[in-house]
Amino acid sequence: MQLLVSGGAGFLGSHLIDDLVSKGENVTVVDNLSTIKHLYLPEKGVKLVKEKVENFDSSEKFDFVIHLAARPSPEDYMNNPVDTALSNSLGTQKLLEIARKNDATFVYTSSSEVYGNPSIVPTPEDYWGFVNPIGVRSCYDESKRFSEALIMAYHRQYNLDVRIQRPFNVYGPRLREDGTYGRVVSRFIYQALKGEDITIFGDGSQTRAFLYIDDWVDATERIIFTEGLSGEVFNVGSDKETKIIDLAKLILRVSNSRSMIKFLPSRVDDPPRRAADLHKIKEKLGWYPKTSLEEGIKKTVEWFGGAIN
Ligand SMILES: NC(=O)c1ccc[n+]([C@@H]2O[C@H](COP(=O)([O-])OP(=O)(O)OC[C@H]3O[C@@H](n4cnc5c(N)ncnc54)[C@H](O)[C@@H]3O)[C@@H](O)[C@H]2O)c1
Repeated sequence: MQLLVSGGAGFLGSHLIDDLVSKGENVTVVDNLSTIKHLYLPEKGVKLVKEKVENFDSSEKFDFVIHLAARPSPEDYMNNPVDTALSNSLGTQKLLEIARKNDATFVYTSSSEVYGNPSIVPTPEDYWGFVNPIGVRSCYDESKRFSEALIMAYHRQYNLDVRIQRPFNVYGPRLREDGTYGRVVSRFIYQALKGEDITIFGDGSQTRAFLYIDDWVDATERIIFTEGLSGEVFNVGSDKETKIIDLAKLILRVSNSRSMIKFLPSRVDDPPRRAADLHKIKEKLGWYPKTSLEEGIKKTVEWFGGAIN
């Protein structure tokens, strides 16, 4: 099979591609390397095209087009709102056209952020979302929502085989920890291992539901390769809510750290609760996360220990 993966050099993409290549698939990656620090792609089985997805075109034949390119870290996307909005509007349209030309299956990595600040938690796929369309996060949330709408338009108008997944806080080795690119798990681990203060926005009572990377790869391959899923959308996450303060305490314990916890002002429009309703993916694809939070955090701390030292 020939797969085109945008954003394939990133955290999720590199793990997915490792697994696809180990199974003998051929992968072309289009990635402008804008949000990554290290390149983890395998040396064989992957062709890397360094380009913005918005500008990409190709006459190659693809069986699957998988769109992951985005700037998903809140501080980073708030600093780059135009790029953020365009990779998930113009970029999505570019890749939909390539999929249409090839009669390929199109798989989109949306986000749990399409739910905004939901009134139902764990949130099911048929919840419509409660999103601020002009807020500082809208460049990300609303472009993900627009992408979903455009993808469904291609499905309805051209009968294109499309599948959408909405990941919730995936973590694991290779997740970038530094500066504006850090996300909560990697930032806390880095701070704990360095003996720096663990910085929590707000009072830490906000919740997230964390998914270990191996479970995400498993779910994603089921979404890509299972027959008969055209037009379907799936939550890919955990249904277990964890308070951010409890995540910080778990990381301090697992890493034997003496770091202190420091509370910073809350971030604008930061959703207070987040967890995935997993009934649909469990029923249709037989998928449910296998890795507990403690187990996943241990593996991630171990990896960061090696990466930092
Ligand atoms: N990791 C998560 O928990 C999570 C949760 C929800 C959604 N997602 C989505 O999953 C996808 C991958 O996220 P990730 O965690 O691997 O992030 P990442 O930053 O590690 O990877 C994103 C990749 O996209 C590339 N990229 C960004 N803008 C681009 C552009 N305009 N053209 C070409 N390449 C571009 C970056 O260079 C990077 O390699 C994103 O669409 C993100 O919104 C991730």
